Amino acid sequence: MTAPTGSVLLAGAVARLRAAGIPDPQRDARRLLAHALEIAPGRLTLVLPEPVPPAAEARFAAALDRRSAREPVSHIVGLRTFWGRDFRVSRDVLDPRPETETLIEAALSAPYSNVLDLGTGSGCILLTLLLERSGTAGTGTDISAPALAVARENADRLGCDGARFVLSDWDTAVEGRFDLVVSNPPYIAEAEMPGLAPDLAFEPRGALTDGGDGLSAYRAIARAALARLAPGGRLLVEIGPTQARAVSAIFAGAGLETVAIRPDLDGRDRVVEARVAAPGT
Ligand SMILES: C[S@@+](CC[C@H](N)C(=O)[O-])C[C@H]1O[C@@H](n2cnc3c(N)ncnc32)[C@H](O)[C@@H]1O
Repeated sequence: MTAPTGSVLLAGAVARLRAAGIPDPQRDARRLLAHALEIAPGRLTLVLPEPVPPAAEARFAAALDRRSAREPVSHIVGLRTFWGRDFRVSRDVLDPRPETETLIEAALSAPYSNVLDLGTGSGCILLTLLLERSGTAGTGTDISAPALAVARENADRLGCDGARFVLSDWDTAVEGRFDLVVSNPPYIAEAEMPGLAPDLAFEPRGALTDGGDGLSAYRAIARAALARLAPGGRLLVEIGPTQARAVSAIFAGAGLETVAIRPDLDGRDRVVEARVAAPGT
């Protein structure tokens, strides 16, 4: 019997993922077929008319089983592209999100030399900021040792020498001052967790929610920023779209002044930028 072509397998896969309720079955099926064939996604169209070897067909079937059970594509292929670079991801880290690139854009809009990333996860924020500006260095903290192992692997893979990673409750195990402090903390309120998309069940709970009102990390980060920011330094945090006012109020109460609230590409509030308030303000 001749092996089925890529086109035939793809058509069946799209139908299967659609029936499983996957939001963009065509995109996911193509990405998974490229992974099974061990080729770059951009080459898939070229090879679709060719027969798929049995081993690749078996890998594709296994990948479709996992995706149908709502496991994220990034976990199945083990990689997620963020700001143009491929980051290793696993169940131990948050899957880097496109909206977090808003924070990167904000950080790159001004100079920095020494960065502290609180809750670094895969390391995607810290490593991107260091790789985009030569001569910079930085520290990433996380309360999860398995997450830090992924961040270190990404630093090695991407050849980022200036990054160090520290097991720490926010900044408690960190010394010194930084001219840029960044964080994308867990900001989903416990009460909102049951309504989330099924794919989020594959991500670490401690990366998604603080188990409370979704704002407790910002209280800790405000204290950390006051202790860690060098004079004139900037604090940039990612927020949920409804949290700008509450986070600014937390920052103001701690002695930080909000200087900008930046939207993501969908126009939703996504990043709060703050600095230490001048005396008397
Ligand atoms: C939303 S994820 C962000 C990961 C990564 N920075 C990103 O943007 O993809 C939040 C991260 O904060 C970490 N975290 C949660 N509580 C923490 C704490 N008390 N101290 C340090 N890190 C913490 C989680 O383990 C998780 O890796």
